Amino acid sequence: MELKKLIQNKKARVAVIGLGYVGLPTALELAKTGFQVFGIDIKKERVDSVNRGRSFIFDVSSEELKKAVRAKKLKAFNNHQPLKKSDVVLICVPTPLDKNKVPDLSYIKNTTKEIAKYLHKNQLIVLESSTYPGTTREIILPELQKSGLKVGKDFYLAYSPERIDPGNKDYKFKDIARVAGGITKKCTELTAQFYQSFIEAEIMPLSSPEVAEMTKILENTFRLVNISMINELALLCGKMGIDIWEVITAAKTKPYGFMPFYPSPKIAGHCIPLDPFYLSHKAKEYNFWPRFIELAGEINDQMPHSVVTRTIWALNLQKKSVRGSKILVWGVSYKKDVGDPRESAAIDIIPDLLRKGAKIDYFDPYVKELEILGSRTSTGSPTSVRLKSVKYSPKILKNYDLVLILTDHSDSTSRPEAGFDYDEIAKKSKLVVDTRNAIKSRKYKNVFWL
Ligand SMILES: NC(=O)c1ccc[n+]([C@@H]2O[C@H](COP(=O)([O-])OP(=O)(O)OC[C@H]3O[C@@H](n4cnc5c(N)ncnc54)[C@H](O)[C@@H]3O)[C@@H](O)[C@H]2O)c1
Repeated sequence: MELKKLIQNKKARVAVIGLGYVGLPTALELAKTGFQVFGIDIKKERVDSVNRGRSFIFDVSSEELKKAVRAKKLKAFNNHQPLKKSDVVLICVPTPLDKNKVPDLSYIKNTTKEIAKYLHKNQLIVLESSTYPGTTREIILPELQKSGLKVGKDFYLAYSPERIDPGNKDYKFKDIARVAGGITKKCTELTAQFYQSFIEAEIMPLSSPEVAEMTKILENTFRLVNISMINELALLCGKMGIDIWEVITAAKTKPYGFMPFYPSPKIAGHCIPLDPFYLSHKAKEYNFWPRFIELAGEINDQMPHSVVTRTIWALNLQKKSVRGSKILVWGVSYKKDVGDPRESAAIDIIPDLLRKGAKIDYFDPYVKELEILGSRTSTGSPTSVRLKSVKYSPKILKNYDLVLILTDHSDSTSRPEAGFDYDEIAKKSKLVVDTRNAIKSRKYKNVFWL
């Protein structure tokens, strides 16, 4: 049957490569729509977990996962063989930066090699991972064309970025509009048709994969630059004795021409602080230095240091030094109500405070254990420290010289089962540094905001 018909009738078999924050919800949504889905991951524990119907992603319900697995609509594999019988292949693998902030495309390259082994006629391949403009055409296409099959005629290739926002309850998977750019017009048409078969929001066809790749980077650069700008203003406001949070609330009253962005101890996660540097790297091929991105990155990289300085300053006001102080770090995930600590502020701030002699515990209802890299050894390799979240009860607050709020997970005022309340934290702690405006009232003299 023609691919278009297979998609229309939900008879297309879909392989999702990479069962992480993007791949797993996508695989589940496809299975719920009626497609036969093969989830593929190199991590055996993730594959086993999916096949047991146990979700490891906060936004994915184990109940729904179990249902899809039991209905035999979703099965996970620890090898790439299901690609042989797949009509559509979605690539959802990581695109990190290496330690020198250079794009690491190894995951995309390895995946492409696997796809090339099983590539066959009438197959649609879509890259969803965030990356620089040119990746689909320059990295994936040549590898696939080694097979002798022709793109746009024998097989189809496109880029359609994922826009998932972990923890966001306002937008369901089906409500998030997408863009799609294929190597040929037919590639774009098939891709748009495929996504429209399980997404209710608009699917916008674009003229090329490069436009789609740049669209994703624009979205994330927009956030990186604006949050960095507000972080810089927050630091200045700190020096001037002006409350940045009150300023933003005031500016928001303007009905047009202003969009609020909020300070944070670091712009973190797997997307916003990384993707713009994919573009920045690529731009140099064109003798172009995108200064906004570099400047935003510089401010962002300085934020954890500024938070540590604020912490030292707050302790100092109470005639305490950081050395020997007991500090409770509140929240280690990169944003509220998610369990993902990748690139988070805590990963930078905790080792810095430890090196300065502080005694650190942390509490995070979503991150039970945290591995952090400590100081470098004489051989240059960093040592790793594993911490466990403490069990929270208001009684423990008196044991700490300072509570440092890095992530503002919802408290019992908006999530009754949370078991904590920011006002109570302000009341019962000796000293608090709040980098997220989790404590709204300004009546507390022992609280310092970023
Ligand atoms: N996390 C987000 O909120 C988000 C949002 C939009 C876009 N993205 C982008 O989506 C991509 C994936 O991000 P993620 O957060 O889902 O990553 P993730 O690390 O959570 O998941 C990726 C998965 O791919 C697997 N993998 C790696 N190489 C593989 C291979 N060769 N074959 C099979 N599996 C392989 C890994 O084991 C991992 O389980 C990235 O490019 C990211 O920038 C992420």
